[in-house]
Amino acid sequence: MIDAPIVVETRHLTRIYGDGTDVRALDGVSLTIHAGEFLAIVGPSGSGKSTLLNLIGALDRPTSGEVLIGGVPLSEVRDIDQFRGRTIGFVFQTHNLIPTLTAAENVEIPMYETGASRGERRARARELLELVGLAARTDHLPNQLSGGERQRVAIARALANHPKIVLADEPTGNLDSKTTADIMALLRQLNRDQGTTLIVVTHNHEVALAARRIITLRDGRIQSDQTVHSTLESELLDFKSSPLGQTILRGETLPDELADVAPKLRELLARL
Ligand SMILES: Nc1ncnc2c1ncn2[C@@H]1O[C@H](COP(=O)(O)OP(=O)(O)OP(=O)(O)O)[C@@H](O)[C@H]1O
Ligand SMILES: [Mg+2]
Repeated sequence: MIDAPIVVETRHLTRIYGDGTDVRALDGVSLTIHAGEFLAIVGPSGSGKSTLLNLIGALDRPTSGEVLIGGVPLSEVRDIDQFRGRTIGFVFQTHNLIPTLTAAENVEIPMYETGASRGERRARARELLELVGLAARTDHLPNQLSGGERQRVAIARALANHPKIVLADEPTGNLDSKTTADIMALLRQLNRDQGTTLIVVTHNHEVALAARRIITLRDGRIQSDQTVHSTLESELLDFKSSPLGQTILRGETLPDELADVAPKLRELLARL
């Protein structure tokens, strides 16, 4: 993962809200996110999570510091709306679907920016709704869908333009725990299968555990930045550091019964 290119970088990002309140919502946050990462941002209410996400998504501008997307400083992008529309997909806590449009029509909205034809838009919307398990709901209006289904439409809409990055702010905030688990499984699948870089803000530690990396904010600063290993991954890492694992990695001669699998094991361990 570390070899993957950097897709998001923040440098000393600070956001002070004015209007006489002078809240230092974000205070010198620097971080680097590589292509294909699945990152959760957690922290107490008011710690700056949404502020950070909005700055990364170019929905807001920093007081000082810089956000770079794919190496491009956002302050130097001329048409920020177009850049955002083509690079970033958003999912919010309240799905923000347009009530008078069907599921498919809602998914088509971001595609208007790109000049796709009507046929292309329809086909892509259908494909995305199928991906999120809603092939049978394309013509339903939002109020004819359950909360979890609406959120899945919002995820399909976020993916419309093949964004490199998907930003989600409390995407499961209004959902019960079963639906929350389904939505997180879907996001995890998209990250794994399509390599979409995924940044999810959440209050919920259970939700954060679906991610591979968890950044905790407190008072506008990074309090911790941890990589999460799955159980299997943890066991493989233990094995890698064991004497046998080290022998395999060094490519040394092994007992006959291990000789066949050793090259495969070596390849696997080397990738960890
Ligand atoms: N437009 C604004 N004007 C003034 N202060 C603001 C504004 N937006 C946010 N703040 C303040 O900035 C701080 C960080 O807010 P932010 O919305 O980023 O927190 P959060 O971590 O997303 O919280 P939550 O978990 O409740 O959504 C808070 O103290 C908040 O009151
Ligand atoms: Mg928030």
